[in-house]
Amino acid sequence: MTAAAPAALTSEQIGVLARAVSRAPSVHNSQPWRLSVRGTEVDLLERREVELRRHDPFGRDRLLSCGAALTNLELAVRVLGRDCHTAYGTDVAATVTIGRPHATSARDFALYHAINRRRSHRRPFFHGRVPAGVRAALVAAGEATGVHLVEPGRLDKLAELLGFATRVLRDDRGYQRELELWTAHTHGWGALGDGVPEDALSPEALPVAGLVRGGTPVPDDVVLAERLAEESLLVVCTDRDDRADHLAAGAALQRTWLAATAKALVGSVLTQPLHLTGFRARLVSELGLPGVPQAIFRFGYPAVPAAPSPRLPLGELFPPPGGSR
Ligand SMILES: Cc1cc2nc3c(=O)[nH]c(=O)nc-3n(C[C@H](O)[C@H](O)[C@H](O)COP(=O)(O)O)c2cc1C
Repeated sequence: MTAAAPAALTSEQIGVLARAVSRAPSVHNSQPWRLSVRGTEVDLLERREVELRRHDPFGRDRLLSCGAALTNLELAVRVLGRDCHTAYGTDVAATVTIGRPHATSARDFALYHAINRRRSHRRPFFHGRVPAGVRAALVAAGEATGVHLVEPGRLDKLAELLGFATRVLRDDRGYQRELELWTAHTHGWGALGDGVPEDALSPEALPVAGLVRGGTPVPDDVVLAERLAEESLLVVCTDRDDRADHLAAGAALQRTWLAATAKALVGSVLTQPLHLTGFRARLVSELGLPGVPQAIFRFGYPAVPAAPSPRLPLGELFPPPGGSR
């Protein structure tokens, strides 16, 4: 007797997956993903038409964002009580094949419940370091084959590099014009559900600023190093630097971010400086990193709350019938 094939997803279950994907973090809140469901196969599609020519000319942050969405998608499948298997693709970002009923672990429940509570917290943290045991648990949450999360040592060198990047990005008018396009339309009647709301940005200097804009103050390197020392930091690194690594880095970042949220921590991500020519190589040599840096995650206990960012309507997640992938 052969076992019955795993049951296809119902429309309610597809709704659960869509809501989880939609709440993932993404570069400039561009939400560069779609979902296509065929029976028990769910394709996560990369919306390559989301172009950030100045910030992300090679689309690596777009794939990191898809990786973060993939973590949410897998968690939602497991919380629905189903097993799943993920394969990275080239045409599609990844395909999640849904298997048989499987008991959901307490850990998956906790991470899934953190999906809606996680948000970019571009604010100073409450003073007080995150205990070493908690930091180690966040590293473990993100680690995967070919992905490493590293606490940076030489904060003086990191401050020097970040300070330099801040000055370059602040004075780059083309870059700033593009950034304005992703921050200007998020308020009022014209709000579309993507982009970074003004309220989510910080008028302060790095590391709190997150996204450097034309008026972002630049602290001197010594002050910046002192501020970095007050925060907890992890650099997400990968052994190689191809599409699969970018997806895996985004997935790891999101696992760590959700694990932090589940422990009542908050954080935000910096990739902005990494896109400057030569920046990654300098970071590797100055900090002795074990791979290619893909994102910097700063985290701590919240001093003030942060509001959630908007999202596009869920219907936008599904390709139009007969439309292109
Ligand atoms: C790949 C990636 C790169 C990001 N880069 C930055 C960054 O350099 N600076 C920043 O402040 N936020 C960055 N973010 C955070 C996004 O702006 C944020 O996720 C988005 O605006 C949605 O808001 P939320 O995280 O509160 O849901 C990044 C997020 C991702 C996934």
